[in-house]
Amino acid sequence: MKTVQIAIDGPAGAGKSTIARLVAQRFNYTYIDTGAMYRAITLKAMQSKIDLHDENAFDFIDQTRFDFNNGILYMDDNDVSDLIRTRAVSNHVSLVSSYFTVRHKLVERQRQMADQQNVVMDGRDIGYHVLPHAAYKFYLTADVLTRAKRRFSENQLRGIHSSLEELVEEIKSRDAFDSTREHSPLRPANDAIIIDTSAMTIETVVLTIETKVREGEYYGV
Ligand code: DC
Repeated sequence: MKTVQIAIDGPAGAGKSTIARLVAQRFNYTYIDTGAMYRAITLKAMQSKIDLHDENAFDFIDQTRFDFNNGILYMDDNDVSDLIRTRAVSNHVSLVSSYFTVRHKLVERQRQMADQQNVVMDGRDIGYHVLPHAAYKFYLTADVLTRAKRRFSENQLRGIHSSLEELVEEIKSRDAFDSTREHSPLRPANDAIIIDTSAMTIETVVLTIETKVREGEYYGV
C-alpha cells in the first residue's frame, strides 16, 4: 500500500506538535512525534543510568517498543508523555539525538511506521532525510521570543516551573546545537513549503496545511 506522508519540520516552539496533531485529526492519519522518540530514548538511558556520553551504549533501542496512539507515545507499553518533558530530559536530548547510531536506529523505526499507515510526522530531518519522498513537506518557523512564550505557556499547563528568559536562552542554544550538528542537522528540505507562524493563529496554520494537502489530493499528487 502506498501511504500518504505529511512531513512537518522546524525548530523547537514553532508550533509543530500542536499543528501536526490537529492536521492528523483532520485527515484521520497517525501523528508521529519523532522528538518524543528521541526524548523517550534519553529518558530510558537516564533511568538505566547508562553513560550518556557513550554513543555505543544505545543498543538497547533495538529492544525498545514504540507505539503512537492518539498522538501519545507509549514506550514499552508505558505512556511516557509527562516523563519525557521534564527539564532533565530536555537538557540531555540534544546530545543523545546528535549520535549517528541513535538517529540511524530511530529513523529506521520512523520509516517503518510511515510505510504501514498514513502519517503526519514532525521533527527536524523528516522532509529531507526520513521521508524524502513525502508528498507534502512543511517547515514551520517563528521568532525566538514567540517560541519561548509558547513553551512557557505549555510548561505552565504541565505544572513545570520556568522563566521566560531561561527559555529564550535554552531555545537559542538548542537551535544552535541542532542546526550545526554533524548528523542530520535541522534544516528545511529544498521542496518544503516554509511557514512563519509568529503572527499566525494555530487555526490559520492548520488551514494553510490542510488546503495544500487537499489541493494535492485534488490534482492527484
Ligand atoms: O521537538 P522536541 O523538542 O521534542 O525535540 C527534542 C529533541 O530531539 C531536539 O533537541 C531535537 C531532537 N530531534 C531530532 O534531532 N530529530 C528529530 N527528527 C526530532 C527531534
